[in-house]
Amino acid sequence: MILIFLGTAGSGKTTITASFGEYLEKNGKSVGYVNLDTGVKKLPYRPDIDVRDIITVEELMKEGYGPNGAIVESYDRLLSHAEGIVGGILELDEERDYLLIDTPGQMESFLFHDFGIRITEHLSEPLVAYLFSPEILKKPRDYCFVRFFAIMIALRLGTTTVPVLNKVDLIKEELPSIRRLLEEVDYLNARLRLDPSMQGLLASRICSFLPEVSSPVRVVYASAKTGEGFDELETLSYEHYCTCGDLT
Ligand code: GTP
Repeated sequence: MILIFLGTAGSGKTTITASFGEYLEKNGKSVGYVNLDTGVKKLPYRPDIDVRDIITVEELMKEGYGPNGAIVESYDRLLSHAEGIVGGILELDEERDYLLIDTPGQMESFLFHDFGIRITEHLSEPLVAYLFSPEILKKPRDYCFVRFFAIMIALRLGTTTVPVLNKVDLIKEELPSIRRLLEEVDYLNARLRLDPSMQGLLASRICSFLPEVSSPVRVVYASAKTGEGFDELETLSYEHYCTCGDLT
């Protein structure tokens, strides 16, 4: 079972790779860890495969690249190693029950660069966990954005993608209303219709397509800090593996 953690900077990819891996290991599963982030300095898990063995952002900055240029250059250089990295991942996947893949800090380095495509297209039925944080959810239209972003990731990478709201330890009281807006499309649409702004109108039009373009997706509510939601994430990964992507 291959689980890829993808999300914006700071959404908790590295922390959840470590803590979910630890949870699985405590439950008797063997876990392989893959780090695809060339910019990370310290990892809270021991990677079996680490792209920093090939190139790091730090090295490139010493060559004179600026921080953003160094990130892009690092993935340009990794492209010629993509086949070897995929080979290593597939080998590790044979040996372990679960394979957890931690992706670049900046999500665009994976989604908008060929490197991400080259890696995911050769893996067998990986499940992408799209991590987002509660702070992005301020208005009903933000919920529409998040639901569509998960669909966009699936479109770009060709992978089953499950939205994972991380850091739920920070939002105890608001959780029921957040759940409702994320899961009940009719309710979300009704709330969107109350927003008279251009963005509200746009979100309302876009979200009316949700039932058509997205199967009733389960959202995972997790905390990489407390381990909340890890049982659901494990069940989902298992179901995905057994049903080849049908998570309805
Ligand atoms: P980059 O790769 O550095 O862009 O970030 P990332 O997505 O790997 O996030 P990382 O795991 O480094 O976490 C970012 C910050 O969020 C750290 O300070 C974590 O301790 C914190 N964090 C991650 N998950 C949780 C969570 O579930 N709850 C809380 N409260 N904090 C979290």
